[in-house]
Amino acid sequence: MAQLKVSAQLWTSQTVFIMAAIGSAVGLGNLWKFPYITGENGGGAFVLVYLLCIVLIGLPILIAEISLGRAGQANPPQAMANIVKTTGANKLWVFLGFNAVLGGLLILSFYAVIAGWGVAYFIESISGAFIDMNAAQAQSHFDQFVSNPLAVLFWHTIVMLLTVLIVVKGVRSGIERAINIMMPGLLIILLILLGYATTTGAFSQSFEFLFKPNFSALTSESVLIALGHAFFTLSLGFGTMMVYGSYLPKNYSIVKASMWIVIADTVIALIAGLVIFSIVFGNGLEAGSGPGLLFETLPIAFGQMSGGWFFGTLFFGMVVFAALSSSISMIEPAISWLEQNWGYTRKKAAWLLGGFAWLLGLGSVFSFNLWKGQTFLEDKTFFESIDFLTSNIMLPLGGMFTALFVGWVWTLQQRNNETGMPPKWSGVYSVIVKWVAPILVFIVFFESVTG
Ligand code: PHE
Ligand code: NA
Repeated sequence: MAQLKVSAQLWTSQTVFIMAAIGSAVGLGNLWKFPYITGENGGGAFVLVYLLCIVLIGLPILIAEISLGRAGQANPPQAMANIVKTTGANKLWVFLGFNAVLGGLLILSFYAVIAGWGVAYFIESISGAFIDMNAAQAQSHFDQFVSNPLAVLFWHTIVMLLTVLIVVKGVRSGIERAINIMMPGLLIILLILLGYATTTGAFSQSFEFLFKPNFSALTSESVLIALGHAFFTLSLGFGTMMVYGSYLPKNYSIVKASMWIVIADTVIALIAGLVIFSIVFGNGLEAGSGPGLLFETLPIAFGQMSGGWFFGTLFFGMVVFAALSSSISMIEPAISWLEQNWGYTRKKAAWLLGGFAWLLGLGSVFSFNLWKGQTFLEDKTFFESIDFLTSNIMLPLGGMFTALFVGWVWTLQQRNNETGMPPKWSGVYSVIVKWVAPILVFIVFFESVTG
């Protein structure tokens, strides 16, 4: 049954799969989260750890996750059940699939709130709100916006509706084509902004901040955050890449596809960082000002550069698009599970799950206004708590078990077949998924939880 349904929607080509996977990977994680957590964690050393995590842990697990999806040919819990059956592995591995279903919804709950800020800024940019804006105005503009619970709630609701509607219509046909235009477009605008960044007089300072490591600024919590972000930014640990992998025809090279996904995601994050910190330092702003960083800096650039209205509108439009091509990928694992295993129609599943994520998202909506002082996990607001729980706990653990499964349950032969790993790398890859990735995740995790 599941087989039939899935094969009807196989990706039309490898390029389309790569584009959709890049659409999932590239999102608020790159444009909004990477710069602000880099600012909060002191820059260079944090970025270095993050890049190491991407190469040593992220890329191998990305390959593993896409392979699991293609091997299992279904939604995450069912895919794991299928693989468990053929390999004779323990049934408990199916939990990996449930972690995916739940985790995607938890992330979506706060992701939609931030994407909502993006929609609001898109509309404001159209209306000319950023023209001639200076640093102080940009900051108070943002503060005023997020302190209004109804405004934030309104845009959160819009994003959730858009996500549900896209998902109901079927992800692939329209989105496939749109991603082909939007992703290169996003890169072009970022390059234009990079040009602007060199005029702020703080470009080299920004470059140093990102690439000159200062290890004294690094704590064990920072390392955990860098690791968690490597998972978050590559959409790992939550079955997203598994679901997309299940749509990928056999005989496409998962290794090659994964490298493209990683390169695109990393390049976009680094350019976004360079741009944002040039504006930060050029205007004497705080690098560690938190989740508002993107929204407090870019309006200054658009307010001052020539063509700012046009580029600003285009940029925030693309932020929204990048966010939507990620948000639909968060809800997809749960939807395909309800569809395939519980017989829900796609429509019913989408509204139900979107409603759940919307409701949970209210906590994040209010974290910036009504519940600003309210703490949940330790000293964290509701928004920070859900972010911490997903990015820093569920994603790394999900990723660790993915690596362990592919490393220990699959034989070398199966692993090479499923991943399409060239023979000369298969030894290294085995060591990474069996030992290196799981041990690194475990150490970082243990250190920061007990430390
Ligand atoms: N990778 C996305 C981003 O960087 C976020 C994401 C996380 C998407 C988990 C799907 C699953 O914005
Ligand atoms: Na990303």
